[in-house]
Amino acid sequence: MKIAVLPGDGIGPEVTAEALRVLDALELEGLELTHGEVGAAGYRAKGHPLPPETLALAREADAILFGAVGDPACDDIERHLRPEQAVLGLRKELGLFANLRPAKAFAGLEGMSALRPDVARDIDLVIVRELTGDVYFGEKKREILPDGRRIGWDRMNYAEDEVRRIAHVAFRTAEGRGKRVTSVDKANVLETSRLWREVVEEVASEYPEIALEHMYVDNAAMQLVKAPGALDVVLTGNLFGDILSDQASMCVGSIGLLASASLGDRTTDHGTFGLYEPIHGSAPDIAGQGKANPMATILSVAMMLRHSFALEPEAARIEAAVAATLADGVLGGDLGGSTGTSEIGEAVVSRLITTS
Ligand code: NAD
Ligand code: IPM
Ligand code: MN
Repeated sequence: MKIAVLPGDGIGPEVTAEALRVLDALELEGLELTHGEVGAAGYRAKGHPLPPETLALAREADAILFGAVGDPACDDIERHLRPEQAVLGLRKELGLFANLRPAKAFAGLEGMSALRPDVARDIDLVIVRELTGDVYFGEKKREILPDGRRIGWDRMNYAEDEVRRIAHVAFRTAEGRGKRVTSVDKANVLETSRLWREVVEEVASEYPEIALEHMYVDNAAMQLVKAPGALDVVLTGNLFGDILSDQASMCVGSIGLLASASLGDRTTDHGTFGLYEPIHGSAPDIAGQGKANPMATILSVAMMLRHSFALEPEAARIEAAVAATLADGVLGGDLGGSTGTSEIGEAVVSRLITTS
């Protein structure tokens, strides 16, 4: 079981260290860890946010544990050398088109949600976000118009096969959960979304037991805070999924709690090849201060054990230990507490032992 560990920038290395501590405490046999530079760290060390040697490590692995990338010091460098290109490049190069972002209420944490506790309590959804298409990867350009005005553009487009494969992921995910898919688009305005909706309908006919509803993204943003408990599987494109998942994190309580798995078609000896990362970024405002909540990254390790290594009991152990840590009131600054990054890691490790 080869894992490529790519900590990245800002709080990335801090949260990754705690996730590795939890993984280590499981004492799994046959783990092989390699480490690579990405993001601003990769750019500084090797002149590129995704150095070829890091990409090679990622390709050779069965799974990737990714921290976060991004550095305000790089805000003015050319787009293709920005730290964010590391994660975009890995997703594209490795064909990781399906991004699963579960959001579930934690018992005892309802009071920390940005929503009323009685609304927050019922959250149990997963955002299935398409990850290698949309306006993220369409043609981009800067031009000067004949009249001298500067213009910038990014093409939003989806081909039907891209929509079809992510829709299948959403319907299959729904089969193992609440059997409902909410497909989020902007079909009242965008041609891209009209095709999206058409293809999702076609795929839905292969899953008669799954209830499908379509929702415009503006309404979805509203429903996510009004009645998040009514959502089960939220199927959406790259851009809308990015925005809705940060919003979902605050419905649960903090962006420091939401994990993700990015999967494609490639399988390994044990399961599906994937990249696992918290949904948050490098948090430059708190980097280096030991204040970051590592739980999102710890929970990403749980997703890795489940999807890439078929180690469901171990994944569940990590999730139970995180839930127990929160229930015991061990909270970082993001949740109104004052526990530091490594103390949270330690607290999860100790509960890993007591909850097993
Ligand atoms: P961010 O997610 O880094 O931070 C947003 C806010 O949430 C900040 O106030 C931060 O302190 C807080 N926060 C985030 N994670 C936290 C944690 N684990 N514990 C406690 N608080 C936490 O988003 P941003 O500020 O918009 O972006 C910062 C940089 O990160 C940018 O360069 C951006 O491009 C990048 N980014 C990278 C990824 C990734 O690597 N996958 C994801 C999102 C943003
Ligand atoms: C995320 C991030 C990335 C995205 C950025 C860093 C490119 O916000 O993983 O949610 O937009 O996908
Ligand atoms: Mn994001």
